[in-house]
Amino acid sequence: MFVSKNLNVNSEGHLTIGGIDTVALAKEYGTPLYVMDENLVRCHCKSFKESIDKFYGGNGLVCYASKAFACKEMYRIVADEGLGVDVVSSGELYTAMAAGTDPKKICFHGNNKTIDEINMALDYGVGRIIADNIYEMKTLDSLCRESGRTADILLRIKPGVDAHTHNFIRTGQIDSKFGFALETGEAFDAVKFALECKNLNFIGLHCHIGSQILDTQGFEAAAEVMLTFIKKIRDELGTEVRDLNLGGGFGIQYTEQDDPLPYEEFMKAVSIVIHEFCEKNNIPLPFILIEPGRSIAAPAGITLYTVGCKKIIPNIRTYVSIDGGMCDNPRYIMYQAAYDAVVANKASEPKNTTVTIAGKCCESGDLIGENMPLQECEPGDIIAVCATGAYNYSMSSNYNRLQKPAVVFIKDGKSRLAVKRETLEDLIRNDL
Ligand code: LLP
Repeated sequence: MFVSKNLNVNSEGHLTIGGIDTVALAKEYGTPLYVMDENLVRCHCKSFKESIDKFYGGNGLVCYASKAFACKEMYRIVADEGLGVDVVSSGELYTAMAAGTDPKKICFHGNNKTIDEINMALDYGVGRIIADNIYEMKTLDSLCRESGRTADILLRIKPGVDAHTHNFIRTGQIDSKFGFALETGEAFDAVKFALECKNLNFIGLHCHIGSQILDTQGFEAAAEVMLTFIKKIRDELGTEVRDLNLGGGFGIQYTEQDDPLPYEEFMKAVSIVIHEFCEKNNIPLPFILIEPGRSIAAPAGITLYTVGCKKIIPNIRTYVSIDGGMCDNPRYIMYQAAYDAVVANKASEPKNTTVTIAGKCCESGDLIGENMPLQECEPGDIIAVCATGAYNYSMSSNYNRLQKPAVVFIKDGKSRLAVKRETLEDLIRNDL
């Protein structure tokens, strides 16, 4: 009935998340409100970790891609599950460190890391820096030299794999701002360059083929391409590549139309490719890293809104306006992303209408979705949008000077505030 397995309906006909009444949560904490189910986050962490254990004998590390959803509490939870994290900015790195993350388990990404960010990563002792370009390697090498340090690096490679996903979030192809291309020889030259840098320790390769990918073929193809490159490096440069980081991108169910795979299927399929290739070519099994973001955070979260005005435009459409919108969920305006919504206080009623859920920003495209099946609703009702745990809070903005919602975590029947709702005072804090 619901896209996420933690959602249900109680005897009052209210939507529950992890057994907690969402209408009561809306009342207690106000709306808009992000709600994250800690048990489900932990369950997702475990299933990726177990797939590394099962298919690689534990010879790997799951690094949660924290761009999906980042706050101190989330970093604490994933660390407690034994995961590392992928960070892409000083802000994510700082938050991860403030939450007590082991720096050795951090992968630091980014196509244009600033000097300050690189220095920060070195000062914290970040375990892996994923180098994106030659300029970055030169900068990193010289900053290391000046301070008498060395840095372990992986090179980001574009494997040239088409992941059949939304064009904006496809990053493995040659026309991408991320990483080094294989076809042109750029990637091979980059490895040679890395090996020449005295303060850089070249330990591995990274690729990320896209996001919200619902089948395994792209990952299998990327693994094959990366291993072929690892073999070339061994054969032609005499260097063994220790780490192979295959990125994230594992798809989830947003609506009934999506048919995602159980998470372990991804690693299972890829492990067959890796084991066969390594055996055939006498290559030691690399240490495998994966970086799931959406798949860990998205299904664990919902957003609660209060319905305001309803505008029925005869023969055209019905707009149901909520007290949030593109500021807390920009994924419809950016990608026409589809979501499932339910009127939380009427969750046992049938979805008799089809509506457009509109946000409150001064922007016609500020919608959560169009043609969404929904229960009949009135001002004051609570709407829950499902599977919003990833790329909602982390992509939220203060457009129109709206205040960012609070984030509440729930666990075992209890709720707790993890991020306070922004106040009007917060909005002018940096204004002079
Ligand atoms: N690793 C790297 C290097 C990445 O660039 C990404 C996502 C991930 C891992 C995690 O991918 P995931 O498992 O979450 O698919 N804002 C877009 C998604 C952008 C993804 C960017 N990179 C959205 O809302 O759909």
